[in-house]
Amino acid sequence: MANAPDDKVTIPSLQARKGTGPKIVCLTAYDYPTAKILDESGAVDLILVGDSLGMVMLGYENTVPVTMDEMIHHTRAVTRAVRRALVVGDMPYFSFHLGVDETIRNASRFLKEAGAAAVKIEGASAKRLKLAAAMVEAEIPVMGHVGLTPQSINRYGRFRVRGTAVDEARRIVDDAVRLEEAGAFAVVLESMPIEVAAEVTRAVGIPTIGIGAGPACDGQVLVLHDMLGFSTGYMPKFVKKYVDLNAVIRGAVEAYASEVREGRFPDDATSYHLKPEVAAALAPPKTRAPKGRGRR
Ligand code: KIV
Repeated sequence: MANAPDDKVTIPSLQARKGTGPKIVCLTAYDYPTAKILDESGAVDLILVGDSLGMVMLGYENTVPVTMDEMIHHTRAVTRAVRRALVVGDMPYFSFHLGVDETIRNASRFLKEAGAAAVKIEGASAKRLKLAAAMVEAEIPVMGHVGLTPQSINRYGRFRVRGTAVDEARRIVDDAVRLEEAGAFAVVLESMPIEVAAEVTRAVGIPTIGIGAGPACDGQVLVLHDMLGFSTGYMPKFVKKYVDLNAVIRGAVEAYASEVREGRFPDDATSYHLKPEVAAALAPPKTRAPKGRGRR
């Protein structure tokens, strides 16, 4: 196994950046080649194997159907590629809902089987806080996630910005503070007004990682396929598309298809050749005229 690079990102090194910058850069990844690009860029501190996997990679309507086995499979592919960044595995719906034992068993799989350094859980109910504390006690670093929690889709019916009213905004701040008290090393703030995320960031001593939560957070995360323009369909306002990969891929596929149809691919440069003597030996023998025929 290769040694970790000198600039390997750790939980203490991330936490040391709270309030002092530079901002923490986080993206999601779900497979080996993209995780390798992200890590080798040296620009990404934290790679989240999000349960957004279900929507962007597996074609589910939301994150609810994602299973532990799917998360472990994809997290393993990511950690095989990553040397520098901190990899966090997302606990899917119903992997931390039955009780402490089941939660720790599932969370430990991310560390033992998949090589992640930490897990993330959504929500901050009293029960979730106990689970977070139990995982931390079991040496499983935990990242919290408050504001819009996509696994709650069936309770709320649709995704909407959270914390727009005073009581909900206060609850988000309290939730983040309690997650810190439970031992979370960082917290994701999803879909909330700038002012609420700024207040959370001020109130907690752990890094806040925003997604649709404005610039005051200690770091930012986006779903990789959204910012690359690979995802299709509805995109929330907070997604900035840095490239239109959909158009790039479609263009490449169309170019390939027309070259195949027109016989322009493969060409000489992309084909193998026999040595001339082998080609000559392989050539069918010249046909001779049968005896007794053709003479008079
Ligand atoms: O699943 C995911 O990708 C996430 C991020 C959006 C934070 O939870």
